[in-house]
Amino acid sequence: MTPILTAEAGAARLDIVAGDITALDVDAIVNAANRTLLGGGGVDGAIHRGAGPELLAECRTLGGAATGDAKITRGYRLPARHVIHAVGPVWSGGREGEDDLLASCYRRALALAIEHRLTSLGFPAISTGAYRFPPERAARIAVGTVVAELAAKPGTVRHIVFCCFSDDIATHHRNAFVELGLC
Ligand code: APR
Repeated sequence: MTPILTAEAGAARLDIVAGDITALDVDAIVNAANRTLLGGGGVDGAIHRGAGPELLAECRTLGGAATGDAKITRGYRLPARHVIHAVGPVWSGGREGEDDLLASCYRRALALAIEHRLTSLGFPAISTGAYRFPPERAARIAVGTVVAELAAKPGTVRHIVFCCFSDDIATHHRNAFVELGLC
């Protein structure tokens, strides 16, 4: 997928692309999962369909995950070698710690990528679909958290793809890049 926008953050390259995350050929794609980690609709459904039944079989061994946490599996039939299943917060007005829980999803996904020596990682816009997180606010948190984490751990993950399924999500991520002075 041709990036809509590319920027550098430290030694890492950050791309915004518009498209289907299941097509990304990266070390890991991040799934916007629920606490059971046993699949669902949206990007969760697309990733499980693309990976095939072995993904669910491995997810069954994980014992779920808390909101804000993430767990890693293989990618099976996907081009991505791994899937990092992150559980985003359900938006409930912004006074229940949703911002911190969303940031935690990005932080935990990066921590797992670093732990597994993965160098390329694709993110969907976690929580901005069924979980109703305001997409502009989510994009600021996504880009800001990733840039801060990469600055704290330079030379680890070298390629981040923000994979946006709609133009408005891509625009929010582009605006976040601009606000952070990345481009
Ligand atoms: N590739 C990239 N992004 C996608 C794709 C895809 N194939 N399909 C959907 N998206 C986008 C949506 O447009 C939205 O911007 O992913 C973002 C997250 O939307 P959801 O998939 O609805 O995830 P979320 O809002 O985090 O809700 C998670 O929904 O599917 C269930 O099991 C999941 O219970 C969990 C909840």
